[in-house]
Amino acid sequence: MSDGIFVAEAADIPEGEAIRIDAAVTGTVDDIAVFNDGGEFFALDDTCTHETASLAEGWIEDGVVECPLHAGKFCLRDGSVQSMPATVDVACHRVILDGDRILVVPNPERLAP
Ligand code: FES
Repeated sequence: MSDGIFVAEAADIPEGEAIRIDAAVTGTVDDIAVFNDGGEFFALDDTCTHETASLAEGWIEDGVVECPLHAGKFCLRDGSVQSMPATVDVACHRVILDGDRILVVPNPERLAP
């Protein structure tokens, strides 16, 4: 048993890709993007902090996601900004792999009121 929210089977997210989980599923203020980087899974708020692009539609390389709109980059491990034009970190959520099931534990600071 785990306290995370089931969001997908591991097979649902091929390596180098991501899916967007609706905020209604996770109870968060933003949708969550779940990434597969070389078989490791990470979860960040989906909306880029520069404008409003979906990070789930970005490119993943070496632990970083590049925003599809203006190429700002964020660390998949902690959401920290790696490259302009974004200047504000994106929120990071904990991921638990329960067998083939991906569970997300939402960051408490990002729960919907
Ligand atoms: S919207 Fe993401 S870098 Fe501009």
